[in-house]
Amino acid sequence: MTDIKKGLAGVVVDYTAVSKVNPETNSLLYRGYPVQELAATQPADAVAYLLWNGELPTAEQLEAQREDGRPWRALAPEVKAAIDALPLDSHPMDEVRTAVSVIGALDLAGIENVLDAVGTVEQNRERSLHLYAALPAIVAYGQRRRHGLEPIEWREDLDYAANFLWMTFGEEPDPLVVDAFNRSLVLYAEHSFNASTFTARVITSTLSDLYSAVVGAIGALKGPLHGGANEAVMHIFDEIGEASNVVPWLDEALASKRKIMGFGHRVYKRGDSRVPTMQAAFYSLVEHYDRADIRELYDTLEGEFVGRKGIYPNLDYPSGPAYNLMGFDTLTFTPLFVAARVVGWTAHIMEQMAANALIRPLSEYNGPDERHIEGYVADT
Ligand code: SDX
Repeated sequence: MTDIKKGLAGVVVDYTAVSKVNPETNSLLYRGYPVQELAATQPADAVAYLLWNGELPTAEQLEAQREDGRPWRALAPEVKAAIDALPLDSHPMDEVRTAVSVIGALDLAGIENVLDAVGTVEQNRERSLHLYAALPAIVAYGQRRRHGLEPIEWREDLDYAANFLWMTFGEEPDPLVVDAFNRSLVLYAEHSFNASTFTARVITSTLSDLYSAVVGAIGALKGPLHGGANEAVMHIFDEIGEASNVVPWLDEALASKRKIMGFGHRVYKRGDSRVPTMQAAFYSLVEHYDRADIRELYDTLEGEFVGRKGIYPNLDYPSGPAYNLMGFDTLTFTPLFVAARVVGWTAHIMEQMAANALIRPLSEYNGPDERHIEGYVADT
């Protein structure tokens, strides 16, 4: 009997030097650095530099990367037109997927031979930075458009995280909120062979282009078992309403075998290494916005579910309510994940390109035995 590894659970398929997820020590290293140290000390774009290049940037290297990204920070008119062509009630993940697809189509225009679309190492570094620099304006515009608001330009005096908040809300970003948001971007940036990253690697392994791989990854991340969970956590909070409703709500949810979004993980089985850092950021926002009610709901649901099922929160659990307190629409949460994870995706895409092998697993056939069309006579 063939040993089928459903969902590739526990299957090691390749090496990676980008990050190390260690469930035994409950740790996560980005190019060797503990993610907690990076989240507490580095701006998100310095961590992007680290994931792409293998080392933290000097001040000059970081400035050069910021300068190189400048041409793409503004919302490109073709991208705005493509988003505006979508119904206002399109899902923001569909908007972001469309926007990346448009950027790719524009950049690759004129390349007729598909063998040339994959590009050189330099071209793919530039494409990675292009998407990273362009996504804040795209995600921010998506939320503003739904509120009938015009896009806001990037500001030169603000860093990546602060600009993201500025372009979304048009208010001077508070340093405490910027720090919490920056920590979330660092924590979300990379996580080895998760479903969306592996999707990007599969697409890259056929020698398709970086943009196609990122579009595929966005499709995978949208799913509520993956990135869509941070949005789903907020839907659950809205359903429960307040802490006093947690027990009856959970009784009913578990009785109907519902998955409680924001809990559990394929790799971490004793808790997600990123949660303490993001939870501390969430708690700081609770204080800042005087929202003890949302913390009481958060703590009560976590305590009840962990107590009953022994299944621990993942990063999406603290991120959802944290983004809610920052003012992001619930539907904007997973696009925020895209803006952060595009760094991990593109680091893995370039790693796959550097030592490629077509990813094509086997399957065990369990369909009908061979049979034939009645009356068919083979040509002789
Ligand atoms: C992310 O891979 C990554 O690194 C992903 C990510 C990243 O940074 O890229 O960390 C981001 O996607 C985090 C996960 C976000 N998803 C959710 O919060 C959705 C809810 N979680 C579950 O669907 C589940 O925990 C998964 C999908 C995350 C992991 O599932 P597994 O490893 O396939 O485990 P499983 O679904 O087989 O669960 C084992 C048991 C099952 O019970 P039985 O059927 O054996 O009785 O635990 C139960 C499950 O029903 N279980 C849950 C549960 N998670 C597991 N039951 C209720 N609620 C849950 N959340």
